Amino acid sequence: MSASNRKIFVTNALPYANGDIHLGHLVGYIQADIWVRFQRMCGNEVHYVCADDTHGAPVMLRAEKEGLAPEVFIERVRVEHMRDFADFGVAFDNYHSTHSEENRAYAEDIYRRLRAAGMIETRAIEQFYDPVKQMFLADRYIKGECPKCAAKDQYGDSCEVCGAAYAPTELRNPYSAVSGATPELRSSEHYFFRLSDPRAVEFLREWTRATNADGSRRMPPEASNKMREWLGEAGENRLSDWDISRDAPYFGFEIPDAPGKYFYVWLDAPIGYLASFKHYADRVGLDVGDFIDPARAAASGTEMVHFIGKDILYFHALFWPAMLQFAGLRTPNFLNVNGFLTVDGAKMSKSRGTFITARSYLEQKLNPEWLRYYFAAKLNSNIEDLDLSLDDFVAKVNSDLVGKFVNIASRCAGFISKRFEGRLAASDAAALAPFGDAATLAQLTRAFNDRDYSLALREIMRLADVANVYVNDEKPWELAKDPAQHERLHRACSTALNQFRALAILLKPVLPQLAAQVEAFFGVAPFAWRDLAAPLPAGHAINPYAHLMTRVERKQIDALIEANRETLSSDSRSASGTAPASAAPATPAAAEAPAEAASPISIDDFGKVDLRIAKIVAAEHVEGAAKLIKLQLDIGEARPRQVFAGIKSAYDPALLVGRLTVMVANLAPRKMKFGLSEGMVLAASDDTGEVPGLFILSPDTGATPGMRVK
Ligand code: 2FM
Ligand code: ZN
Repeated sequence: MSASNRKIFVTNALPYANGDIHLGHLVGYIQADIWVRFQRMCGNEVHYVCADDTHGAPVMLRAEKEGLAPEVFIERVRVEHMRDFADFGVAFDNYHSTHSEENRAYAEDIYRRLRAAGMIETRAIEQFYDPVKQMFLADRYIKGECPKCAAKDQYGDSCEVCGAAYAPTELRNPYSAVSGATPELRSSEHYFFRLSDPRAVEFLREWTRATNADGSRRMPPEASNKMREWLGEAGENRLSDWDISRDAPYFGFEIPDAPGKYFYVWLDAPIGYLASFKHYADRVGLDVGDFIDPARAAASGTEMVHFIGKDILYFHALFWPAMLQFAGLRTPNFLNVNGFLTVDGAKMSKSRGTFITARSYLEQKLNPEWLRYYFAAKLNSNIEDLDLSLDDFVAKVNSDLVGKFVNIASRCAGFISKRFEGRLAASDAAALAPFGDAATLAQLTRAFNDRDYSLALREIMRLADVANVYVNDEKPWELAKDPAQHERLHRACSTALNQFRALAILLKPVLPQLAAQVEAFFGVAPFAWRDLAAPLPAGHAINPYAHLMTRVERKQIDALIEANRETLSSDSRSASGTAPASAAPATPAAAEAPAEAASPISIDDFGKVDLRIAKIVAAEHVEGAAKLIKLQLDIGEARPRQVFAGIKSAYDPALLVGRLTVMVANLAPRKMKFGLSEGMVLAASDDTGEVPGLFILSPDTGATPGMRVK
């Protein structure tokens, strides 16, 4: 890879075809789009593709529920998704579907190559089967009573009440969430990709450790650490074979030579990257071989870069490179991994109205570039969650984009048009110097290339401050009153407009629409990075200035939240887009019975509960746990207690640290899937579901860790 004229094949994770695009999705898409636009502005060749991820039981059941053939349903969703992305300025070169002939051909070919390499084997496994629906049930379609705490209506893998993890076969009174029928255990032959094969383990160990030919990393350091954890030490083998088949009925591709067996959706999903690329390459006359054949890719120096969310790292860092390697294809150069989106410090929530769809944002007439700017201002190359703080959003957009950036042009352009026939004078070189400073531009180039957009935007806003200081010092509105200052007015406004132009070039990857308006205002060709080298010269004619951007009002945000609020609490797994398509037959017990006071207990009974003031000294998300946050609680003992609390839907771990709360200190320690839980944090919630949310307790000022609550 050379610094100029890179040839890069870029993808974003393929969204599932059974749900709307929401702001959480957009973090990764906007991040990738900014990178692609920046690379292109630098003269690099970029091919940027995506597709809908269409296969699997959820899509099949959802289409059935809507009375549509799956092919019709997924095409409708694809059109909606394409529109959402386009309206947010995410400009894919191609938006395809995993249910395409290109994908079928690649999936079959890769499978055959893996089989020829001895990487496929079959084994019989036992699974729950729905005798009414006549289909095997994925864990998420089996519900029943928790084997540990007897809570009703728990999913087949873990209990949302007590946090216990188990196999679906351990549930008491299991039922199918699809039909309500009691499932039967049945055996069936499944196809496995042999990830535990020593060749795969060895390859992945090496692949994780090594860098690309130019010494660049293959993934962020946190992701490599995760890989090391998954792979274990040298000589160890922690990987399990991967079940890549599902039995009919299933919406997907039938496995070659295996009638009634279909590729599991995650097998053909990443292959969809190649399929979309092929579909596009055929259209534009590009040779995919240069990008996917290892020898040719190495010879032509092409790169393959995937932008993904942290929840799908396992698929992209283990299965995908191993599949490519053993199928004789090139492996990715880089996995960019983004974190989750929180809104006002908490997980997006339908009941709070913070599960915001892309479409609703647009329907409220909010400017998509406000969101692009806000996300960019908070994005860096780490796998960190990004918080959309709604007040901060309003403040930042108004202060940076309207107050600092647009304001420069709006204060100066009119004078050029009215007094100088729309022609610029020569600029003040000293005032422009910071905008052409080699070290600054090198830092900005590096920041965009390394996806450290927050750093880039901080630096750009520093330059905007420089421009505003210049305008405030020159005071064109004062100069305009004095005919003797005619020349100076011309030079000051021309200089400020050139400063504004430099800022617009730098902001173009983030704000393409605004940049296009600025290009039209200046009457120039689309900005490229090299345009930063020189200002517009004396005599350059500009066009009349039209207002570029309005302020965002808090009431627009409030309306957006209202538009997304669902009255009944529905922070279920449906938020992930992988929920059962039909509702479970039984309503949760809590929703049936109004809150009733529990039966009386004696003071001695109450005295058995050791309640303590606890200080939250650490809090973190738990990988793989939908509901839990891991807390370290100081209750004045030698070491903090570790407690897994089911409060993830309501709290951002970062905002919990340092808080005092109340815990049950003498609850018997419980071994959970994720580790030992040594107590319980108390939280209030409304069983009727009318008041959404969870509320942990806080003592009055003065309470200290370890104090007994009586
Ligand atoms: O997690 C998801 O939303 C998946 N649909 C992502 C697939 S990415 C790629 F592998 F296709
Ligand atoms: Zn339980």
